[in-house]
Amino acid sequence: MRVVFLSAVYPPEMKQYTRGLAEVGAEVYGVGDTPRDALPKDVRRYLTDYLAVPRLMDEDDVIQRVSGWLGGKTIDRVLSNWEPLVLLAARLRERWGMPGMSVETVRGFRDKELMKERARAAGLRVPRSSRVRTEAQVRAAAEEIGFPLILKPIAGAGSADTYRCRDQAELESAIRLTRGVTEASCEEYVEGEEFTYDTVCIGGKPAYENVASYLPKPIEARSVEWISPVIITVRDMHAPKFAGGLALGRNILKALGMGDGFTHMEWFLTPKGEAVFGEIGCRPGGAHLVDQMNYTSDIDLFREWARVACWGSFEAPTARKYNVGIVFKRALGRGRITRIEGLRDWLRQAGPWVVEEALLRPGTPRRNWKNTLLSDGHVVVRHPDWDEAHRLSFAAATGIKLYAE
Ligand SMILES: Nc1ncnc2c1ncn2[C@@H]1O[C@H](COP(=O)(O)OP(=O)(O)O)[C@@H](O)[C@H]1O
Ligand SMILES: [Mg+2]
Repeated sequence: MRVVFLSAVYPPEMKQYTRGLAEVGAEVYGVGDTPRDALPKDVRRYLTDYLAVPRLMDEDDVIQRVSGWLGGKTIDRVLSNWEPLVLLAARLRERWGMPGMSVETVRGFRDKELMKERARAAGLRVPRSSRVRTEAQVRAAAEEIGFPLILKPIAGAGSADTYRCRDQAELESAIRLTRGVTEASCEEYVEGEEFTYDTVCIGGKPAYENVASYLPKPIEARSVEWISPVIITVRDMHAPKFAGGLALGRNILKALGMGDGFTHMEWFLTPKGEAVFGEIGCRPGGAHLVDQMNYTSDIDLFREWARVACWGSFEAPTARKYNVGIVFKRALGRGRITRIEGLRDWLRQAGPWVVEEALLRPGTPRRNWKNTLLSDGHVVVRHPDWDEAHRLSFAAATGIKLYAE
C-alpha cells in the first residue's frame, strides 16, 4: 500500500496522520513545503520518502513535481487531511485513476454555496443564501435575504473575513472590509447554539461520530479578544437534543457523496429546536479537535483514519467515556508572555481530570489571536459528567490568566 500524503508534516498534527499511515502498514510518500533537512525527527521514521516542493499551493507545479518524483511507481492512494489541499489530492487521484473522491465531489466540501445547493436539493435545512462576486450582488442578496445576515468568503477558514450584519450600515462596513475577497456567500443569520458534527466515514457511512459544543460560537470567539474560547465534546451526543443535528449530518454526507475519511461539519440549533446546516469539510476539524475526540473515547483516530483510508476498516471502540473540554487562553497585553496566574489553583481543583496543559510559557511571544485558533496555548480537561466538564472548563476560562505586559 503506497500512499502519497499531502502535507505530511504541516500543520503539526499532520505528523500524527503520517505516523498512523505507517502504523497500519502503508509506505508513506510525504509531500510538503518543509525542506527535507528540516523534517522533524519524530516523523522521519514514518516516511518512506519525502518530496519538498517550493510552492505547495501551486497545484499545477505540485502535480508536475510529484509525478516526476514518483516516476513510474504504482501508487494506491492520494490523501490529504488539510483543507487547502483536499482538491489537489482529488486532482492527483483523477489523473492517476486512483480510488477516492472525485474533484467534483470534493468541490461540494470546499465551496460554501455549492455545499448548500447540494444540501438544499436533497431537501435539507440550510440557511437562505446566495453567491456574490460584486458589491451590487451583495446589496441585492441582502435585500432578498434580509437582516441579520452573514457575509463570508466562499472558501474561508477560521471565521476570517466573516461578518454579521444587522442593518444596511453594518453591511456597507462589511463590504468595505471584505474588498479583498473575490467571491463570498451572503446568508441568513441563524440564531442559536453552534455545534460540530464530526465523522470518520467508510463509503459515506460514519464509523465514528462526534458532536462538540462551541462556547461561544466561533464568530464571537474571533470578535472579542478577552474571550477564552471553550469547545467541549458531548459524551451524551445521542440525547434527544442532538437528534436533529445527527440526522442532518448523516443526510448531508449522503447529499454530498462523501467517500472515505474525516468530515467536520458545523450546525446550529435554533431556540425552536431546529437543526440548521452551517458548513462542512472533508477533512478533520483543526485546533486539536481530533485530540479531543481521542480523549473522549480513549482511542487513536489518527491511526483509525489511516486504517479506513488504506484498508476500509475501523477498529477502535466508539463508546464515549468523557466530555472533553479544551480551553484556549489569550494573554492580556502585547508582546511576550510575562506571567501566568491561577494555573496552580486550577490544576489543584481539576486534579485527575486534567489531560493537557499547554499554555505558552513566560518569555514566549504572543500569537496573533485573530490568525490562530490556538491563541496563547490551551488546557484540556475531561469528565464523564457534562456539568462537571463544563464547570472545570469555565473555571479555566475565567480563573487562569496570562499576561503580556
Ligand atoms: N448563517 C450563519 N448564521 C449564524 N452564524 C454564522 C453563519 N455562518 C457563519 N456563522 C458564524 O461564523 C463562523 C464562521 O463561518 P463558517 O462558515 O464556519 O466559516 P469558516 O470556514 O471560517 O469556519 C461560524 O462558525 C459561525 O459562528
Ligand atoms: Mg467553520
